[in-house]
Amino acid sequence: MTDEMNIQWYPGHMTKTRRMMEAELKLVDAVCEIIDARIPISSRNPDIDAICGSKPRMIILNRIDMADPARTKAWADHFKARGFSVIQTDCKARKGITDFSPALNRLLAEKRRRYAEKGMAGKPLKAMIVGIPNVGKSTFINQVAGRKGAKAENRPGVTRGKQWVTVDQGLLLLDTPGILWPKFEDPEVGLRLAWTGAVKDDILDTETLAARLMAQLWQDYPQALRDRYKLDDSLFPADFPELTPAARGFALMEQAARKRGFLLPGSQLDMDRMANVLLEEYRSSKLGRFTLEHPV
Ligand code: G4P
Repeated sequence: MTDEMNIQWYPGHMTKTRRMMEAELKLVDAVCEIIDARIPISSRNPDIDAICGSKPRMIILNRIDMADPARTKAWADHFKARGFSVIQTDCKARKGITDFSPALNRLLAEKRRRYAEKGMAGKPLKAMIVGIPNVGKSTFINQVAGRKGAKAENRPGVTRGKQWVTVDQGLLLLDTPGILWPKFEDPEVGLRLAWTGAVKDDILDTETLAARLMAQLWQDYPQALRDRYKLDDSLFPADFPELTPAARGFALMEQAARKRGFLLPGSQLDMDRMANVLLEEYRSSKLGRFTLEHPV
């Protein structure tokens, strides 16, 4: 992990974020957490459940356009079974946005009933959006609010004055999201965040980052690699277990570079070019729609 990342996410931020979230939590009746459907574990904050306590919760599985549909469904079932309300969105194409308010109304039905019993039937119910940087929080809020709007600041714990957006009659959404930190201390999480573009990809050199991605995709979606890069299984024992993931990925990238004709003067393989192509084709979903984490 680079110093830059450590500076950006030094522990003081965590404490500050936690403190601010705790203050904002008091203002809202529900917390709606946006996660990246491609990496539903790594795109979550490890302490969010503890921070939210017993507040009604929603999981917004975002970027479903880039994730494996079968696994998105498995993840939705996983979170529903744990008591979360779940919606699935593609904020880029505005899919699933209209599911938000009915789902939030269902989630808060009990609270609304209790208010009615106390003679406060008209009291608006409030929710907030939280999530790690770049997960789609601003885009989601702007779409729910039907506006173009400004980007949320990508710094933990930074909020402007409290402003509320009307989601539906009697439903308000805090117009600035709570920004959460991912579990950076776990190197595997760092890798996944870098692959998906959630963090800068300078946590590792580009070739190693791409090689690790290649190895992961070979494990989860080998056919997509065979189809796109014409990889030839005969060159690899089924799961060359003696190699580290990075070495396995390099071997696969070498073959892909050869098939694509990525050569440097002197017939050396241009691995830097291959690494950049792999990362770009993965991030733009040209390779396919993949989900790299499974419900446990
Ligand atoms: P944040 O507030 O959580 O930091 O994230 P933000 O909304 O700024 O979204 C980060 C990027 O992710 C944006 O792209 C946004 O368009 C894109 N995005 C959000 N949701 C989805 C989704 O469901 N699917 C896809 N494919 N992309 C999504 P950008 O490159 O920063 O800007 P632009 O491409 O929209 O111009």
